[in-house]
Amino acid sequence: MERRTLLGTLAAGTLGLGLASHLDGAQASQPAPTDPLADYKPRTFALEAGLPGLSKEMLGEHLALYKGYVTRTNALLREVRAAEAGATAPVQELRRRLGFEFSGMRLHELYFETLRDKAAAPGPAHPLQKAIAAGWGSFDAWWAAFKATCTMTGIGWGALVQDPLTGRLMNAWFQDHENAIPVGTVPLLVVDVWEHAYVKDYGATARAKYVDAIRPLIDWGLVEKRFN
Ligand SMILES: [Fe+2]
Repeated sequence: MERRTLLGTLAAGTLGLGLASHLDGAQASQPAPTDPLADYKPRTFALEAGLPGLSKEMLGEHLALYKGYVTRTNALLREVRAAEAGATAPVQELRRRLGFEFSGMRLHELYFETLRDKAAAPGPAHPLQKAIAAGWGSFDAWWAAFKATCTMTGIGWGALVQDPLTGRLMNAWFQDHENAIPVGTVPLLVVDVWEHAYVKDYGATARAKYVDAIRPLIDWGLVEKRFN
């Protein structure tokens, strides 16, 4: 994607709008809608059979949770529109909930589409890998810092993001779905570390083992496409 296009999408200043252009990745099952007022539709991901280290039962529950975010996002968008048209609903609370539900929807899509068996390994010659090496010294050193981010106390997401204005990479923590996000940055990789993402398979005290299991499932071919 051209930087000008990326900056245009990011100018909207929200996580979701800034990510819209990334949904044409190799595993995207649904192109971006041409009607900006159309309902969002749950995307499909080849995860129902499970993956090495992630059971089909746990992933099945996770996919169902994702569909709930899509449903509630559509409902909230209608409620907000009605409130803005003069209804008496408390629109401020609706807006807060919309940020949570929409970001939950979009983050799950970014996460699920990067997970696959026999995922593409990091390409050492790719500019993203060179940027990681420049920032942290090596891929393994970056991963250690990323894993530490993913195992922070709290409910949220570990993320590798890029500031499109400077190109800088940062490991970031997205609290819940919509808080503590460095504004305008583009998520290149996100890992769901809410308890529903791992407790069924690993128990409540072994989030680190879940993050270890995720590592070989990350399709770096797709992550690298998100790098600008
Ligand atoms: Fe989740």
